Amino acid sequence: MNLLACVSGALLLFQSALAAPSWSATPILPGSIPLAVRTPYLSAWLPQGSGRALNEAWPQFWTGATLGWAGFVNVDGVSYNFMGTPTLSTPFQKAVQKSFEYTATQSIFVLSAGAVDVTVTFLSPVEPENLLVQSIPFSYMTVSVASTDNKVHDVSIYSDISAEWVSGDNNLIANWGTYKTDQIVHQIEISVPQQQLFSEVNDRIQHGSAYYAIKNHGDVTFQTGADHDVRNQFVQKGRLANTRDTNFRAINDNWPVFALSKHLGKVGKLPVPTTFAIGHIRDPIIEYIVAGGKSENRSSYFWSKLHSPAEVIDHFFDLYPRSAIVANKFDAKIKADSLKISADYAAITTLSVRQAFGATEISIRKDSHGNYDPSSTLVFMKEISSDGNILIMALSYTQKSKDLSFIKKNFQYLDQWTQFLIEDSLVPELQISSDDFAGHLANQTNLAIKGIIGIRAMAEIANLVGDKTRGANYTSIAESYVKEWQVYATAASGQHLTLAYGQDDSWGLSYNLFGDKLLGLNLFPQSVYKMQNDWYKAFIKPFGIILDTRNTWTKSDWTIFTAAIATEPAVRDSLISAVANFIGGGHTDAPFPDLYETGDGRPYGFRARPVAGGHLALLALM
Ligand SMILES: *[C@@H]1O[C@H](CO)[C@@H](O)[C@H](O)[C@H]1NC(C)=O
Ligand SMILES: *[C@@H]1O[C@H](CO)[C@@H](O)[C@H](O)[C@H]1NC(C)=O
Ligand SMILES: *[C@@H]1O[C@H](CO)[C@@H](O)[C@H](O)[C@H]1NC(C)=O
Repeated sequence: MNLLACVSGALLLFQSALAAPSWSATPILPGSIPLAVRTPYLSAWLPQGSGRALNEAWPQFWTGATLGWAGFVNVDGVSYNFMGTPTLSTPFQKAVQKSFEYTATQSIFVLSAGAVDVTVTFLSPVEPENLLVQSIPFSYMTVSVASTDNKVHDVSIYSDISAEWVSGDNNLIANWGTYKTDQIVHQIEISVPQQQLFSEVNDRIQHGSAYYAIKNHGDVTFQTGADHDVRNQFVQKGRLANTRDTNFRAINDNWPVFALSKHLGKVGKLPVPTTFAIGHIRDPIIEYIVAGGKSENRSSYFWSKLHSPAEVIDHFFDLYPRSAIVANKFDAKIKADSLKISADYAAITTLSVRQAFGATEISIRKDSHGNYDPSSTLVFMKEISSDGNILIMALSYTQKSKDLSFIKKNFQYLDQWTQFLIEDSLVPELQISSDDFAGHLANQTNLAIKGIIGIRAMAEIANLVGDKTRGANYTSIAESYVKEWQVYATAASGQHLTLAYGQDDSWGLSYNLFGDKLLGLNLFPQSVYKMQNDWYKAFIKPFGIILDTRNTWTKSDWTIFTAAIATEPAVRDSLISAVANFIGGGHTDAPFPDLYETGDGRPYGFRARPVAGGHLALLALM
């Protein structure tokens, strides 16, 4: 049996064991669906496992903690629950999910509620070239209602959030307020004495405020109060009471909820949309250590343009028509480019985009006059912003941006690091690599690859700034290292690279070769790529190839890097399909975990990590 037949045979067996949901999932059913994913602290997902409709589970924070977020639609006096799983004393119907689809920036659910269809679209904009838009920590939920029976119906929609959005400890006291301007805005936070700057409980930030807002146009009502009271009110009356509960109390004490409702009036077959904005603002966002051991407070970039939460929300609603167009264009581009590789690849990349960007925040600091200084803009990542790999990234950035200022400004440091690589990269000492969870190892073949590419990258950086002598010297060092490395790193059989020099039976994914491709260096001989490609063919399991011979697990990001350096499309495609099979196989209800077993798809704890950005490796080569 050939390789591909083996893999698909095993998958058929596996998939037939899972119960499929009654609704369709396009392009695939992921482990968890991004709902509002913009920052490390605005990160709401719908867990799936083998499939749960929008009203079959509560949304979760990326860690798995429950986030109260409910939705009802009232059609001719009958209320249907379309989001969350509330229980009430008043009877109500459940809407029935018909389909689910995701794109790079949107998750779209269609549910039928009696004689209307309800389309719920969660849009988390991804616009890294627009710092203002990218830095606004809000997401959109648009609920669109249309009649399906050629009659008009009287329709109201309802949604609320709980105070679970503001802390990792539900015993803390929450405060809240509701403001009516051009919007109706609920603001919720933990009581100020309990707020703690830059502190987390269960990965949740302990300062700042959550916001839930709707435009104050038409017949809009609001209410705050105990979850049962507020939801019963809407289910019975189809509208809210415009009353405020001011008994500030613990998040879990008669669960206060913050509800918004809109009476749409008569709805025919033309869809009637209503947009909600959900967000979490804190200021400052980052404590940054600067020279001399001092620290500085950094704010979200949007504060340099907008001056109050009300203004932020106002602007966010104004942006919506434009953001929806930009998002549709961006989604179409990611999909079309990914489809040039395969449908499975498009399923992976489109699921990864919000996860990667949702772990970042764009920050800015004030100058000595108290004004925001645009030249101080820095992006921070919640995780994996460690120090390795800088030379490769610096060159890649320069090649793509054609902007020499970064390498010019930092030339001295880049060159200083290169000296370390010249000493240490060919024969790496006992150390960890980016796969630190696998432990220390001396003489790591894959680490040497990265180090040698780093030297060659510095040669290119030197060439770009006009230092041709240095460029020629480092190029010749890197090239001679590659020759020596081939002798150290190739197994005695000549069939594969080892995991570590001299350990002939060991091997692993030599994913760091991707840097050679990304930078267009052609530093490593084609025969090395071909040897690895051919070796991997015999070892592909249902969910991928082992990361290395120390364990039977693998990493999705390094699998995709390996696919990007495969010399045969069949090997590339089967590696990509293995990742898609893992994520679409019902093995997890976590946001795209990146570490899992190759044999049975069992995931380990790595969830919602920005390393999912690595899944775009093949797009970076286009
Ligand atoms: C950062 O902000 C906090 C809260 O406003 C303040 O207490 C602290 O002194 C600030 N730190 C610096 C270095 O300015
Ligand atoms: C690492 O490899 C070099 C070159 O083959 C060898 O001299 C050295 O002993 C190895 N170190 C370890 C700890 O295996
Ligand atoms: C090449 O670079 C190495 C490492 O910086 C240095 O030791 C050596 O002197 C350089 N050779 C020349 C010819 O410049």
